[in-house]
Amino acid sequence: MKKLFKVLVLALVAFLVVACGAANNGNNDGNNNGNNDGTGSTGETYEIGVAIYQFNDNFMTLYRNELQKYFGELGAEDGNTYNVEIVDSANDQARQVEQLNNFIAQDKDLIIANMVSPAGADTFLQSAKDADIPVVLINREPESTSTLEIWPGKTTYVGVDARQSGRYQGEIIAELENSGDIDGDGKVQYIMIMGDTENVDAQQRTQYSIEQLEETIETELLGERLRGDWDQTKGQELAAAALAQYGDEIEVIFANNDAMGLGALQAINAAGRKVGEDIYVVSVDALEEVVNLVVEGEYTGTVLNDHYNQAHTAADVAVMLLKGEEVAPYYWHDYVRVTSPEDAELVRKDYRTETIEAYEARLAEIDDQKIDE
Ligand code: GAL
Repeated sequence: MKKLFKVLVLALVAFLVVACGAANNGNNDGNNNGNNDGTGSTGETYEIGVAIYQFNDNFMTLYRNELQKYFGELGAEDGNTYNVEIVDSANDQARQVEQLNNFIAQDKDLIIANMVSPAGADTFLQSAKDADIPVVLINREPESTSTLEIWPGKTTYVGVDARQSGRYQGEIIAELENSGDIDGDGKVQYIMIMGDTENVDAQQRTQYSIEQLEETIETELLGERLRGDWDQTKGQELAAAALAQYGDEIEVIFANNDAMGLGALQAINAAGRKVGEDIYVVSVDALEEVVNLVVEGEYTGTVLNDHYNQAHTAADVAVMLLKGEEVAPYYWHDYVRVTSPEDAELVRKDYRTETIEAYEARLAEIDDQKIDE
């Protein structure tokens, strides 16, 4: 009996040793590290929450699809499982706050956020920090560098510098033979169709496109800046109304994105005007449809908003954070001026990182230049 008891105790001890070993393995040093150690054991599973400001947006749809696809590719490569839950914030700030709080309550491993209102980022990042969930902000740059100081190393913005896209639009018009001055009065009369006015992209594209053009020729805004919320139908309606009001006076239509530019093109055609002859239209994103129109000479120009590299970098940076690494506050890609389909080709490019200090120094330099002018 005693002997049997001894055997049973030994068997139990052996079982516990094996069981503990297995639990430890699964835990992979308790650090939630990705399993890149080449031992061939099964990978980690990560829960990632993604909130997109609005699904009904051509550019963000390209971005979102690329992000989802690329996380799948990453998982196939590194053996980890990236469970990506993407939600539609439907351009509703209150709804997004609820969705982000849900992600936090579900204890996601990481959150990727395309803020409806960048002004809401600070409160959200503070809650994410309290819950120890790293965050990658995308597409809508925080209004101030201080947002990324709330939780340095664990929060970041991946994007493109919208000033650059504004300048490229200005350059495209400036480099036309008549610099956009169709009637030869020495001034470019234009209308401006903006996205949503709280958005850094909208503000900077508006400001820098005109500043750039003014390095070559004087400009005159007809009426007020118009708000089209990145939407094609609104772009069409606003352009139609402006064309009815100002007629031939309008020489250039600037639109903050291609969707609104396409709307403007519909209005231009309906008004019996002809792009490249008696009016110009320029915008940003390089949607395939617009690139084709540019090539055919039916659209003046666009600028590639590189969703492919932004999505890949956002996911690569997310993986660094999931592995417990510290990341830079800013990861940048470039806009590209598009004159041929090759310019809009999607190929992986290097990102640039920037510290808060470097970014602030760059901003101070931009301000200095303005004072000098
Ligand atoms: C811009 C893009 C627009 C729209 C907007 C949403 O970068 O050019 O088309 O998607 O983001 O924030």
